[in-house]
Formats: sequence, C-alpha cells, structure tokens
Amino acid sequence: MLVNINEDNHQFHLTNGKISYIFHVLKNGHLGHLYYGKALVHRDDFSHFQCYDNPTPSSCHLYEEDPAFSLETIRQEYPVYGRTDFREPAISLRYLDGSHISDFHYKTYRILKGKPKLEGLPTTYVEHDEEATTLQIILEDPTRQVMLTLNYTIFKELPVITRSSQLTNMSDTAVYIERMMAASLDFASSEFDMVHLAGAWSRERHVKERRLEAGIQSISSIRGASSHQHNPFLALRRPMTTEHHGEVYGFNFIYSSNFLAQVEVDHYETARVMVGIHPFRFEWKLGENESFQSPEVVMVYAEHGLNAMSQHFHDFYRNHLIRGVWKKKDRPILINNWEATYFDFNEQKLVSIAKEASQLGVELFVLDDGWFGKRNDDRTSLGDWWENKEKLPNGLGYVADEIRKQGLAFGLWFEPEMISPKSELFEEHPDWAISTPKRASSLGRNQRVLDFSREEIVSYIYEKMAELINRTKLSYIKWDMNRYMTEVYSTALAADQQGEFFHRYILGVYQLYERLTEAFPHVLFESCAGGGGRFDPGMFYYAPQAWASDNTDAVERLKIQYGTSLVYPLYSMGSHVSAVPNHQTLRTTSLETRANVAYFGTFGYELNPLDLTAEEKDIIKQQVELYKEYRSLIRDGDFYRLLSPFEKNETAWIVVSKDKREALVGWYKVLATPNPNKQANLLLKGLNAEAEYTINGNDASHFGDELMYQGVALPIEFNGVNKEKAERGGDFQSYVFHLRQR
Ligand code: DGJ
Repeated sequence: MLVNINEDNHQFHLTNGKISYIFHVLKNGHLGHLYYGKALVHRDDFSHFQCYDNPTPSSCHLYEEDPAFSLETIRQEYPVYGRTDFREPAISLRYLDGSHISDFHYKTYRILKGKPKLEGLPTTYVEHDEEATTLQIILEDPTRQVMLTLNYTIFKELPVITRSSQLTNMSDTAVYIERMMAASLDFASSEFDMVHLAGAWSRERHVKERRLEAGIQSISSIRGASSHQHNPFLALRRPMTTEHHGEVYGFNFIYSSNFLAQVEVDHYETARVMVGIHPFRFEWKLGENESFQSPEVVMVYAEHGLNAMSQHFHDFYRNHLIRGVWKKKDRPILINNWEATYFDFNEQKLVSIAKEASQLGVELFVLDDGWFGKRNDDRTSLGDWWENKEKLPNGLGYVADEIRKQGLAFGLWFEPEMISPKSELFEEHPDWAISTPKRASSLGRNQRVLDFSREEIVSYIYEKMAELINRTKLSYIKWDMNRYMTEVYSTALAADQQGEFFHRYILGVYQLYERLTEAFPHVLFESCAGGGGRFDPGMFYYAPQAWASDNTDAVERLKIQYGTSLVYPLYSMGSHVSAVPNHQTLRTTSLETRANVAYFGTFGYELNPLDLTAEEKDIIKQQVELYKEYRSLIRDGDFYRLLSPFEKNETAWIVVSKDKREALVGWYKVLATPNPNKQANLLLKGLNAEAEYTINGNDASHFGDELMYQGVALPIEFNGVNKEKAERGGDFQSYVFHLRQR
C-alpha cells in the first residue's frame, strides 16, 4: 500500500519504503505539512510533528480562544495569503468584487490506481497501474464555490513523488487566478544549500550553489521559454551533503514556459519551497464550471548525495517521461550540416557530405536551417515551409531519396513557432505574429514569433509539417526556437484574458508536438532553442532528445554536460563532434578529445567530412564503431560523476550497466600541469567490488574494489623529461576506457 490514511485524525502518509511524505488536515480545514524525507514506519498518529507555538506580539491568529493557531508558524501544504500567514502563497485568486481572500477547506480524498493524464500537458506516466498510486485531496472554498484538487502520485520503485494542482469554478461568476503553483512545501529548517543550473546561450546549465539566507531566493523565466538562463530545477542539500553522501531534495518542473522556483526563508528560519507557472503577467479567467490544471512538479529525495538524486531523476525520466518508440531504441549517429555549410549549400554539396558520412558509418543526415523559402541567411522565410528551389531545384523529396541511397536516414530542421517579416506567410498573415497594439515589435535574430495561442495557426503549421514529413519520408525532426518573446499580446484574447497568453502559447506548442508525434510515431524529434534554451522535462515528453548547446567546444561541453546530468539522462543530450578551431570559442582540441566528451550523450557530427584528412576519417570510423558498441550502455546505465569541472582542472565520469558487468569511463584534463603527480589514480564508482574487470579488453584483470578504492592508473603523462615514455601531455587531454567483467 503506497498511501496510508489515518481516517480519525485525517492524516495522509505516502510511502514506498524509500520515502515518506506526510500531511494532515488542520483545525481550520487547511492542510498542514508534517514530514518529507527518508521512509518512516507508519503509525496511528503523527500530529506531534506539527508544533503550535505561543503567539508573539507580531503574529495574528485565526481563533480568539486559540492564539497559538497562527498560519504564520504552521507548516502547510498549499498556503494562502491573508489568513495570518505572511509568506508568499501557493495560490492567489481575484474575485469579481476585487477581494483576494481564499479559504480552502478539506472536503474529501480519492485514491486512484496508477496516475491520471493531465490533459494537454506533458506529464509523467505509468505503463501499469501497479507502478504508482495517486492521492487526490479535494478542498473547497464554500463561500466562493471554488474547488481545489491537489494531486500526489507516489511511485513504487523510486523515491519520487509528483504533485500538481487543479482549480474548478463551481460558481456562476468568473474567478481570476493570479497565481497557482504546482506545489508548495514547508521545510522545518532552512539549513540547506540551494543547487541550481544557470547560464546563457552557449554556456547553459552550469552548476550554481548558495547557502539559503533570510528572504526569498528564486530562479525563474519570464521569456516565454524555460530559458538558457535558468533551468526549471532546484535542489536543497544539507550543508554536509556531497556528490555521494548526505540528503538532498530535488524539484523539477515539467514545463517549457515561464516558471518560478523559489525558496522563502522566514523569520523563524523555516524554508518554503514552491514551484509553478511564473505569476508575473499570469492571470487566468476561470468561467463557470471551468477548470485550470497546473503542470506537474517532480520531487526526488535522495539519501546518498547529489549523484543519487541524479540517478533517480534519470531512471524516472527514462521510464516515466520519455515515451514512444524511441524510449528504448538506439538513437542514430547523425551528421548535421549546420556548421559544415551554414546557409551555403546545394543538392550536390549535401549529397556528397552524406556520401562521405555514410562511409564513416554515420546513420542519419540532418539538413539544418536554410532549405526553405528564400532562406540564404537568417533574415527571411521562416514560415515558408516549402523547399528553396534555388538551392534544391529537384525538390526536397529528391534530396531525401538521394541521401537515403547513400544508406543514411533523412532528417530536417524546422522552426515552427517563428515567422520572418520577410516571408510569404507574413505578407499573407501579418496579424499572425505576436504584437501589442500601438507598439512597435522588437526583433530577435531578425524574426518574430507566431501566436501559437491561436488554434488555426497551430493547425496551419501542422499541415505544412505533416505534408513534408509524408513527402520526404522524414525519420527525424530538429525543432528549433531561436528567440524569446516581447510585446506579448494576442488579438484572439479578450482584454481580461491577456494574462493567459504565455500558458496558452505553450499549450499550442504541446498540441502541435502531440499531433505530430501521434501521427508520425516513428519520427525522432530533437528539441532545440538556440542550443539549450528549452532543455526541460516538458520537451522530453514529446522529443526524447534535445540539442544541449550551440557550444560544441569539448572543454565547454564538460561543464554543460556535467551540469545537465544533474537532472537529465545522458541520452537526452545531443552532443556532437565539430570542426576546429571551434566555432564558438576558437579553441583547438584533438579529434579524440572532442569525441571523448561527445560520447556521453546522443552522439553525432557537426562538421564537413569532405574537409577531413584520411587519418581523421580513420579515427572517426573508430569513434563511430565505439559509440555503436556502447550506446545502449550509455542509454540505460547508471551515471556517476567522479570529478567536477566546476572544482578542478580534471573532469571524470563513468556509466555503469545496471548489472555492473560493464562500464565506460571518461576522464579529461583541461590544462597541462608541469611535473605532475604520477601516483594519483582515478577512483571509480558503481562497480561490483568482488568482480574482476578487464580494461579495454587487455589481459590484466582488476577487481572492482581495486578500481574503486585504489583506482585506475591513467596513461603516463609528460613531465618535462620522460619524452619516450609519455603517453599523454599538453592541454585538453582525455582518456575513455571500457571495463568488462571477466
Ligand atoms: C540554432 C541551433 O541551435 C543551431 O544548431 C542551428 O540549428 C541554428 N539555430 C540554425 O539556425
């Protein structure tokens, strides 16, 4: 039983033997939070976990006869503002008379086997009902006739709970939702460090940490996408928690638009965490009998450090978020022509790239930006989704066939949500681009954004894409999104519904994804937003992989991929080998090091194979073979971070198969150091201590305990005098090796 209920005292205990999550109904009918963490034995009464403090002169109380009952000091599940709690609320409603006070009283609960879908939204799912149990708590504000449902799903095999909320208006007047978080959680103490992922274009998802301090600390996006700047993820770790030891609580929001994830440390040094749609410029008009469903937040508890938290997220997303035929299938090794040609290509150039790539063992050719309309640079044609006849006189179908004749599958780039002011689509439908009346419209990369809150626009784009998928027999789509939103307004929404825009927009995006993935289940989607600007679990529900960053420099990728791995599994990260000097940093690293970093993701190439020397081609053939051999291990294995690029000159990681029979290790040293330590071995993790392993198929065998506690000796490094002996030296060194149990 995953949900235990103490009916007498209205206590709810979700537990799967790994975690416990406990809450109860307070005397005023609201929900009080009791516990979240390592599993506790169930008992009849947990009410002593809540402390009702004596009132201070500055606190307010609900009952004259009980001044100790103040929501200011009580830990809650889904708090409101204006009823004695002065912290930020989970929900705020505006009624037609201008008042804002809400008072939700517990009414009843429902237990559902498995997990219901959240209509129109990306959500985690179960394949069989036994995998999870959902508890729905129904609360009602009788004065205003609005009903609030809080959904909690606990999963049987993992320390994971998902939460979301839903509001239904049962009155005959409209209610305006000003704020509605997916979940809120009150921790008894603020003795935590907050870990999150921040960055910018071409340096996404760097790991950031800070001690919680009094006041509100938050990460957010109000850009219309989850953003390069902040990922919708935060974790609270105990101050002593490290990668492999100690408690940590992770929160990840399954949403791709404006979000807020914040921690409020109050004057008693408790910590309130909440995650949801960003309330800034959000307002949703809820008419009679209408409901609003929040997206979902995933909460992971880990007892053994950040790495364990990451592994739980990876397992959870691999089994309960990523869907369809690509869930368990090998992802093709691709070649993308973007950095090889940019906009400058023709049929013959593309086919010769494909021909060369096919000889290297590559499996999929992706034709990137520039194949449509009159697109010869980034100033025109977004929205004109038909082939550029100047570049492709025989049509896209012909090119696709020619590429397939080379033995490669064919994939295509789209930027479905965008429109160029210089395009036939814009000439025909200038009103389809987002704009605010009486205001000039800003450009981003010379383009504007289509109003995806309008169904007819989404349908138009669907028809165009579906026609091309059918005609060119596409196997893969790279769905790009290269600018954030400004002058946001929709001509299709009433004045008092403009606050719905951002959410309706992303629902339009999800709807297009849903229609396409349903109609073309075999097509592999890779999401992209100027690199990793929309790298979030909302996207992974539809597109099982995402272009992690436009930055393909091996050194920069160490940080990007390391940070990304905090939450997302390796096979969600598009990671390619590109030409040097690198186009984003002008740094030159070896072909070997570039691949050694890119292997730990969904592998591919972003270069012109016609420019390669015979020797480089031989190296690439071996790289492709290596990835083919180990890609299922990379896809399904347990990932351990060993050395952090944020702390050291060296980075290392290992992916170990679930049965521990094999593993792939990546080690990297950014800058050479003179006369280095020769004794310091690389300590591995996750192996079977008693099993014997060979390294790269060599004769010598090593026990797992030796590899983990004595470590692996790295190839001999140049120390200024050992020229003959040295196996490595110089900047940007790397070493990838494979372990197999004897
Ligand atoms: C941004 C993407 O991240 C790149 O990979 C490439 O597809 C360009 N857009 C094309 O415009």
